[in-house]
Amino acid sequence: MINVGIVGATGYAGEELIDILLRHPDVRITDVSAKIDQPKNISEIFPRLKGRIGLVCAEPDLRQIIDKCDLVFLALPHTVSMEIAPVLLTAGKRVIDFSADYRLADTAVYTEFYKTKHKDKANIQKAVYGLPELYRQKIRSAQLIANPGCYPTAAILALAPLTALNLVDTDSIVIDAKSGVTGAGKKVAEALLFSEINEDFKAYKVDTHQHAPEINQELSKLAGKKLKTTFVPHLLPMNRGILETIYVNRSRKPQAASRKLTDLYRKFYKKEPFVRIREEGDFPRIKDVAGTNFCDIGIKDSGENVIIISVIDNLLKGASGQAVQNMNIMYKFPEHTALA
Ligand SMILES: NC(=O)c1ccc[n+]([C@@H]2O[C@H](COP(=O)([O-])OP(=O)(O)OC[C@H]3O[C@@H](n4cnc5c(N)ncnc54)[C@H](OP(=O)(O)O)[C@@H]3O)[C@@H](O)[C@H]2O)c1
Repeated sequence: MINVGIVGATGYAGEELIDILLRHPDVRITDVSAKIDQPKNISEIFPRLKGRIGLVCAEPDLRQIIDKCDLVFLALPHTVSMEIAPVLLTAGKRVIDFSADYRLADTAVYTEFYKTKHKDKANIQKAVYGLPELYRQKIRSAQLIANPGCYPTAAILALAPLTALNLVDTDSIVIDAKSGVTGAGKKVAEALLFSEINEDFKAYKVDTHQHAPEINQELSKLAGKKLKTTFVPHLLPMNRGILETIYVNRSRKPQAASRKLTDLYRKFYKKEPFVRIREEGDFPRIKDVAGTNFCDIGIKDSGENVIIISVIDNLLKGASGQAVQNMNIMYKFPEHTALA
């Protein structure tokens, strides 16, 4: 049994995380905190948790968190995590951070996309990028996990086999991504009002979104050379779910044309409990994965061009589900515990 704390417990990802952890037989939630004026029972904030948890949510008290927790989830906005994580790490705690603060190896890129200087460069090297399908071995012994972004999770899983096996023209990758509104968190913003989003559909941050460098970083590692994708996110008039339609050209190497991609993807993800590959020509939709930790992938291979469709629930495989999957790996619990 491990004791865990959640900082940022009142946000979308925090709420989802509590719900999952309350179903976990090997975990006890011992501390919940957030930016909050008056301490309040967490089940008053989220009535769906009534009768399941009796903890009071207050401003984070790091001394208390260190005393009460083995592992701390930081479901916090970027810049806030890098203020808190170093204190917890120095105290010997394990940390799973949901923000982007420890995802990018190059702090100049972090500053360019997150418009602020990095304050904890020392711990970036310590962080393991928490995508189990690529980094399971390192996750096992990690003290700090940089839980991936939601768009990057869907994109990297969709492109990893082609990129790692050198079957893609790395200059040709176009990621057309669509997300439900919870992807933006609970912040109040005019652009996120129901009346602005309902019955509308739009692109935003076209080729400038902060998740682009994260996708490029991870795919470059797989390709063994620096690559840059074209990434265009869109806002869907719905609460949760991500669907990405990805267009690539196959590399011109002779062996690239002869392999059946669905077989190759199945082989690549053979042992993965949360990646499902469709039959060629069959494509997943968001409803197929909403409320689950799965990433479903469909492929259309026309020889020269390939179209890949990848779907996840942004709050589960894109955030809290993936964080729990990482925790399960770190503590040698069966990987699907509380997630299946
Ligand atoms: N939403 C997604 O689909 C998704 C997917 C992948 C990754 N993420 C990442 O996960 C993190 C959380 O996302 P979210 O969507 O849950 O955001 P959110 O709904 O805005 O929640 C943020 C949480 O952090 C708390 N918080 C903010 N500033 C704080 C501070 N200075 N001290 C203590 N607590 C503070 C908030 O408390 P108050 O509510 O009281 O302000 C709230 O509990 C973000 O880094 C986000 O990028 C989110």
